[in-house]
Amino acid sequence: APVFAAVTINIDPAKPGAVINKNIYGQFAEHLGTGIYGGLYVGPKSSIPNTKGWRNDVVGALKALHVPLVRWPGGCFADTYHWRDGIGPQDKRPSNVNGDGVDEINAVGTHEFFDLIDMLGADAYVNGNVGTGSVQEMSDWVEYMTADGGSPLARLRAQNGHDKPFKVAFFGIGNELWGCGGNLKPDYYANLYSNYENFLRAPDKSRPKMIASGGSGFDTAWTDVLSKELKRRTVGISVHQYTIPTGNWSVKGKDIGFKEDEWISTLANTLKMDQLIKDHVAVLDKHDPEKKIGLMVDEWGTWYDEAGARSALFQQNSLRDALVAALNFHIFHDHAERVPVTTIAQMVNVLQAMVLTDKEKMVLTPTYYTFQMYVPFQDARSLPLAIKDNTSYTLGATTIPGMSASAARAKDGKMYLALVNTDPHKAVDVAVDVAGAKVKGAAGKVLTSATMDAHNTFQNPQVIKPAPFSARAEGGKLSIKVPAKAVMVVALEE
Ligand code: AHR
Repeated sequence: APVFAAVTINIDPAKPGAVINKNIYGQFAEHLGTGIYGGLYVGPKSSIPNTKGWRNDVVGALKALHVPLVRWPGGCFADTYHWRDGIGPQDKRPSNVNGDGVDEINAVGTHEFFDLIDMLGADAYVNGNVGTGSVQEMSDWVEYMTADGGSPLARLRAQNGHDKPFKVAFFGIGNELWGCGGNLKPDYYANLYSNYENFLRAPDKSRPKMIASGGSGFDTAWTDVLSKELKRRTVGISVHQYTIPTGNWSVKGKDIGFKEDEWISTLANTLKMDQLIKDHVAVLDKHDPEKKIGLMVDEWGTWYDEAGARSALFQQNSLRDALVAALNFHIFHDHAERVPVTTIAQMVNVLQAMVLTDKEKMVLTPTYYTFQMYVPFQDARSLPLAIKDNTSYTLGATTIPGMSASAARAKDGKMYLALVNTDPHKAVDVAVDVAGAKVKGAAGKVLTSATMDAHNTFQNPQVIKPAPFSARAEGGKLSIKVPAKAVMVVALEE
C-alpha cells in the first residue's frame, strides 16, 4: 500500500503580503559554452530556423515562460567584454578568445541582444565591464544604448540600424569583483562604483537602474560596505549563491545517476538560500531601513561536476533541479519585499538551464517546466500561509521539511497554491484551509516521475513533463494528494 502522510495548509487571503516582483523569474544568458552561440543564436544564415539569427524553437519555448528579465553578457565574461567589438557589420567584428578558451566571434552584440529582448518581450539587465574596462568605455556604452539623439554615440547607434534608444531596465557595474572581476576588496570597489556610476549618463526618464556587484554566498561584508557607502546610488546589491550537492567545489556531485544521499543534500543545500537572504537582509536593514536597496540574487541554481560536458558548464537537468527551482521560488516569495530581482544561471545549455540544444535538436528541462508552472506568481500578491504538522524527510544525519508551499493572489484574480514534496518515497495528503472562504476545488499541473534523476534527452525528450491535476472538495473540505518528489501548482476554485 502507498505510504503517505497528512498536513494542513492554512492560507489567509484577507492579509495579503508583498507583491512578488515578476523579475524574480529573471534569467541569465552569458557568452559561455554554448549558452549563446549554438544554444540561442545560430546566425541568420543557419539552416536551423531562426529570426535575425535567434533560434525560433528556443525563443518560442522561452516565450511560454514569460521571461521578464535577461541578464547579459556575463558573468565573468562581462569583465573582459568590450562592447565596441560587438557593433557594426557582423563580418567586420573582431574575434577574440573567451575566458573558457572558446572563440568569441562577437556576432551577438548590443543590437542582437536587444533583438532577443524584443522577441521575448523581456526587460534588459546589461552587465558592464569593470575588470578590464574603463569609466570612459562604460560611460560610452550606456550613452550608446540610451541617448536620445544629438550625441555622436546616438548617431552611431542610428547608423548601426537603431534610431531609437534601447531600453535598459538595469545596468550592473561589474561582476564578482571579489573574484573573476578583479580580486578586489569591498571598500575599494565601493569607491570604484561611485566613480563609474557618476559618469554613466542617460536621460533622466530612461536612466537604467544601477546594480552594485556584491558578495558570494553567506559573505555579507560586501553587502555591509556597499549598502553603507552607496546610498541613493544603487537600487540593488547582487549576491551569487550556487547549489552544489556535496557542498564541496572540488567534487561537486553528478547531474544524473546520483543516489538518495545527494538528492537530500542538494535540497538541504538549496534551502540554505533562506538563511542567506535573511543574513544579507539583516545587514541591509541596518544601513537601509527605508528599504530602497534590493538584494539581487543574480546568479543561482545547481552546479554539478562537468566531466565530459559537451560544452563549458553544460549539465543535465533532472526532477531534482525542478524541486531546487521551486524551493527557491518559495524562498524568494517569502522575501518579496527585499528581493526584487533574481536571474537563474543560466538560460540555455549552461548550468541549471531551461533548454538544452544539440545542433538542430532542443529539449525542455524539468526546470523549464517549473518556471512555466509558476508563471501566475509573476507580479502576484503573496498570501500568508502556514503549514500545520509538516512532515519531515530524513536520510542519515540530514532532515529537511517534507512539504514546502507558497500561495498568492495572481493578476488574473485567482488564488494559486504551489506545493513541493521533497520526500522521494511518501506522498502527502494536504488539507487546504482558506480562512473565510469555501474552496470548491483545485486545478493545475504536477511534475514528478518514477526516478529522482528523471530527465529529458535529445533521443527521448518527453520523459518528464507536467501532468494535469485536479481535486474537488468533499463535505466542504479540499484535500490534495501531492505525490512523492513532486512540484505542483494549482489554482484554487473559490
Ligand atoms: O554562471 C557561471 C559563472 O559563475 C559566471 O560567469 C560567474 O559570475 C560565476 O562565477
